[in-house]
Amino acid sequence: MADSLPDPLLRVDKLVRRYGGITATDNLSMEVIPGELHAIIGPNGAGKTTLISQLTGQVMPNSGTIYFAGRDVTHLPSYKRSRLGLARSFQITSLLKDFSAIDNVALAAQAHDGHSFRFWGNARKERHLRDAARAALERVGLGKRADIVVSQLSHGEQRELELAVALATKPKLLLLDEPMAGLGVTESARMVALLKELRKEVTIVLVEHDMEAVFALADRITVLVYGRVIACGVPDAIRKDEEVKRAYLGDQHAVTRHG
Ligand SMILES: Nc1ncnc2c1ncn2[C@@H]1O[C@H](COP(=O)(O)OP(=O)(O)O)[C@@H](O)[C@H]1O
Ligand SMILES: [Mg+2]
Repeated sequence: MADSLPDPLLRVDKLVRRYGGITATDNLSMEVIPGELHAIIGPNGAGKTTLISQLTGQVMPNSGTIYFAGRDVTHLPSYKRSRLGLARSFQITSLLKDFSAIDNVALAAQAHDGHSFRFWGNARKERHLRDAARAALERVGLGKRADIVVSQLSHGEQRELELAVALATKPKLLLLDEPMAGLGVTESARMVALLKELRKEVTIVLVEHDMEAVFALADRITVLVYGRVIACGVPDAIRKDEEVKRAYLGDQHAVTRHG
């Protein structure tokens, strides 16, 4: 196929998911290249979350194939995909509100290692889990907040903690579903700065409505409308694409604010 591009880390081939009369994912094909930050944008109801849920195995497609790291993972359960290096954050993660930040991350690392949550007590004590958890917290800027109980963290800090939880599983691909949703201006700016750092280390698929953030972060952008890919390309090409303007960006003034 394409000689110049490396093998994709993720390849989705003719994916279809229906809900009754609605085709939430409509013959969707796309590729994510190792190292890129690939944004997925589109209007509400375009099928962004449904796509992410199929990538993680929380929703099964009616037809089509998902390849991850060269393997057909279409029928693999979520936990097996997670062990292969697929991690999801946001719009789904449930932090344990009564536990400290570091306990949340250590538990996630432990669960990923294949141990039952039943033994959570061990996660507190086990040196390698705590070291890994502390490293993940440092990466998201929460190093000094490690011992704070989740319910005492700000909304923005909880988002950062969700990222640390995902990072603790050492993902090859991080799937982020609207990390800026509900964040204020300052918190959003912090999240963009954080994602700019993380994208140097891990391949990211980012679903996001904040167009300023998307155009600041993305290497490539896929645009979904009614479950279909209407465009895929570098930010400049997407910004100029007539069909994209008509279907989505035309009424998004944020996109023109970025140089
Ligand atoms: N569990 C579900 N049951 C029925 N319809 C669903 C379900 N999940 C999503 N849909 C429908 O699929 C379409 C895509 O939804 P979604 O993936 O949430 O879009 P987005 O994340 O882009 O806003 C919408 O029409 C939505 O109503
Ligand atoms: Mg959604």
